[in-house]
Amino acid sequence: MRLSEAPFISATDLDVRIGELASDLDEAYASARPLMLTVLKGGKPFADSLARNLTIPFDTESIRARSYDGTESTGTVNIEFDTTVSIKDRDVIVVEDILDTGRTAAALVNHLKSFSPASLRMVTLLDKPSRRVAPIQADWVGFTIEDHFVVGFGMDYNEAYRELDDIRILEPDGPLSA
Ligand code: IMP
Ligand code: MG
Repeated sequence: MRLSEAPFISATDLDVRIGELASDLDEAYASARPLMLTVLKGGKPFADSLARNLTIPFDTESIRARSYDGTESTGTVNIEFDTTVSIKDRDVIVVEDILDTGRTAAALVNHLKSFSPASLRMVTLLDKPSRRVAPIQADWVGFTIEDHFVVGFGMDYNEAYRELDDIRILEPDGPLSA
């Protein structure tokens, strides 16, 4: 796999769009104190940036959900939830890095619904609708993208590249040249 040299989404474009999403959330939760539930690890930089831009009061917690091995969605979703976090009767916003097949988010939403939140909505930085398998969509989407495997700004390939402050495409190696 090879990392694209040019950013696919620049740090500036990320800042601008996340500012817009924060305004949308400010408006939607003007009379509530939502609980931002960040899906680790990928959602963390996005959630941190959103949090800096929000003007409403809110609480933050995190949850772990994993389904990927390399660039393949495994279909089995593993959820680790800190049981001391109470989401009953809370207005929950799930903060995701990317919606791909949607299996992770669908499993997560089902799991969270069983704890009876007052409302449950999702904001995702990226959305790859062409890859969707599970019937799920986010309430707010930062960028809708084609079917690329992307890394950076929290997103990884086997734990690498999370630290990039922009988003790049990870391209498969082409045929070996002479
Ligand atoms: P899904 O269950 O297939 O929707 O996968 C969702 C999760 O897989 C995301 O929250 C990411 O953690 C990871 N993922 C999906 N697509 C990508 C990608 O292009 N780059 C890095 N991680 C990805
Ligand atoms: Mg994720």
